[in-house]
Amino acid sequence: MSDHDQVKMTSMNYDVDRPKAENPVKIMDLSLRDGHQSLFATRGRTEDMIPVAELMDQVGFWAVETWGGATFDTMHRFLNEDPWERIRTLKRYFKKTPFSMLLRAQNLVGYRNYADDVANAFMDRACENGMDIFRTFDALNDYRNFQTVVPKIKEYGKHFQGCICYTMTEPRLGGEVYNLDYYVNKAKDLEAMGADSICIKDMAGLIAPYDAYAIVKALKAAVKPPIHLHSHFTSGMSPMSHLKAIEAGVDIIDTCMSPYAYRTSHAAVEPLVMTLLGTNRDTGFDIKLLARINEIFEKEVMPKYKHLLDDSKMSVIDINVLLHQTPGGMLSNLVNQLRDMDALDKIDEVYKELPKVRKDLGQIPLVTPTSQIVGIQTVNNVLFDTPEERYKMITGQVKDLCYGLYGKTAVPINDEVQKKALKGYDRGEEPITCRPAEVLEPELEKAKEEIGDLAVDMDDLVTYAMFPVTGKKFLQWKYGKEEPPESVKPITLEQVKKKDELIKKAKAGELVEKKKDAPAKSENARTFNVFVDNEYFEVGVDEVGGSPILKYAQQIQLSGGAPAAAPAAPAPAAAPAAPAAPAAPAAAPAEKKAAAPAPAPAADAEGTPLSAPMPGMIVKYEKNVGDSVNEGETVVILEAMKMENALAAPASGTVKAINFSSGDSVGKGDVLCVIG
Ligand code: CO
Repeated sequence: MSDHDQVKMTSMNYDVDRPKAENPVKIMDLSLRDGHQSLFATRGRTEDMIPVAELMDQVGFWAVETWGGATFDTMHRFLNEDPWERIRTLKRYFKKTPFSMLLRAQNLVGYRNYADDVANAFMDRACENGMDIFRTFDALNDYRNFQTVVPKIKEYGKHFQGCICYTMTEPRLGGEVYNLDYYVNKAKDLEAMGADSICIKDMAGLIAPYDAYAIVKALKAAVKPPIHLHSHFTSGMSPMSHLKAIEAGVDIIDTCMSPYAYRTSHAAVEPLVMTLLGTNRDTGFDIKLLARINEIFEKEVMPKYKHLLDDSKMSVIDINVLLHQTPGGMLSNLVNQLRDMDALDKIDEVYKELPKVRKDLGQIPLVTPTSQIVGIQTVNNVLFDTPEERYKMITGQVKDLCYGLYGKTAVPINDEVQKKALKGYDRGEEPITCRPAEVLEPELEKAKEEIGDLAVDMDDLVTYAMFPVTGKKFLQWKYGKEEPPESVKPITLEQVKKKDELIKKAKAGELVEKKKDAPAKSENARTFNVFVDNEYFEVGVDEVGGSPILKYAQQIQLSGGAPAAAPAAPAPAAAPAAPAAPAAPAAAPAEKKAAAPAPAPAADAEGTPLSAPMPGMIVKYEKNVGDSVNEGETVVILEAMKMENALAAPASGTVKAINFSSGDSVGKGDVLCVIG
């Protein structure tokens, strides 16, 4: 039966006489999670969701996605917001619409598999704080990674939505691995696990309309739970795929309110509502109500975020996705990373290397975190491999993947790569075949000991257990132990207006007026280049209060492809007086042993420097000043693009100086330590 059928009466006045559809398409709104994650680097603040919350609650959405994915990370890291508080706050405004979250199965809302005790604690807290629907996925579609979280969802009587990550190796559905049978079998697995609904998660916008039709038709015939389609707009195909999926009988579709729609986000809800109006799949939504919500977004919310929108291109679709069958967010991360390393000219090599690395690593789907794992390793190969040696710098996450810590790959991992990755791997050189979390030691008690009284309740403890470095920093802000930096504070509409005026003035050449009572420029004043469109200004910056210490901007890329804040890399030659490199006191050198001597500036220590090969954040030093090291031994773990890179000693000797602390951001070429 085809139930998309024709409009029943063309001359009907829908304001007063709109027939109720026999089988309305249900809609989940993603504006408050995937929408801003895709378009605005996940920087959406709770205060900017409240003005629309009550109206959105009236629309009749099947659910609103409000949490999970990258929101937990960005909220505590960049926004100084307690992620748990967001659920409770929004629940006060959404009185009837269920909340959905994106759960990365055993990865929870982080980027690695956590131990079962952390997963259980996280699920308890998510359920108790008010989450209703758990859209659960595993990057490898290895459902053994669901085995801890699903019983928790059931225990609390919540909705378990099982995802199949949509990926492909060919330009269209089919091929050896990801063919129609693959998806049908995965859906059957999910049904057997008790899925309340099944989602085809097309995170890259790869699903072509006729393939969407074929899959939905096949799944509707094979399994009972409702079928839900999540398809990003990125490639431009999703509105067509939505319609074909609806024709095939899909139950639920994901959309965004139009200010959060299109580009790498999702199709807008409004055109779909009009498309289905009067048919037997009519959503029943009030288009005028949607318009009112849009107006609030446009006037009160979007001005604060527009600077985050990647408007470097005219085109709202990314045809590279069609060409490379690769997520757009991943591609823009690759571009950003290459740009950071002054290697943008290598992009074509990266495109060529990417399918090779993916194949070597078991033809895994490309979704957080596997898209980063494959992406960063690809960049590392292009930048650091030599004709004699492939996979010269293997990230910690690739080692974990080769060991089996993420789960079972779609096809076996390349033997040679696996052997090389596991050489000297601390868990063992023989890969595992069991459920990954089975080899993980419990983590919660240890986390509790480490964080002590700084974690006041279970929510705090789980935050810290998942994000030890940034989570601890957040708790220090939360409880007033440390002043949060300016960069994490919200901006107001007033400030946005002022900034816009300033830019307008600058463009008009009026930015030269002198302030009458300007203070004298200190010797610590630093010079920055400021670019406004094609205009260029040189600006001297003197910190109020006279502190010469630099605060580093966070520069870790989150998916969505928004431009990163440029690292305020010190220029040692120009400012010899400023102790730029050592950690600012604000960034508590917490993970460092108390006995370690104060960090010495790199210039003072004689020996071989270990420089950062890429910008990133120091996770930890494996050595202290005075320790002896052998060449090749790991000295420091650097997180770049959320991947951990073990940096090896360039020479044997003694660690003479350590110039940063855990949590510090570093620029490419910064001397991390000196070995003499
Ligand atoms: Co998505």
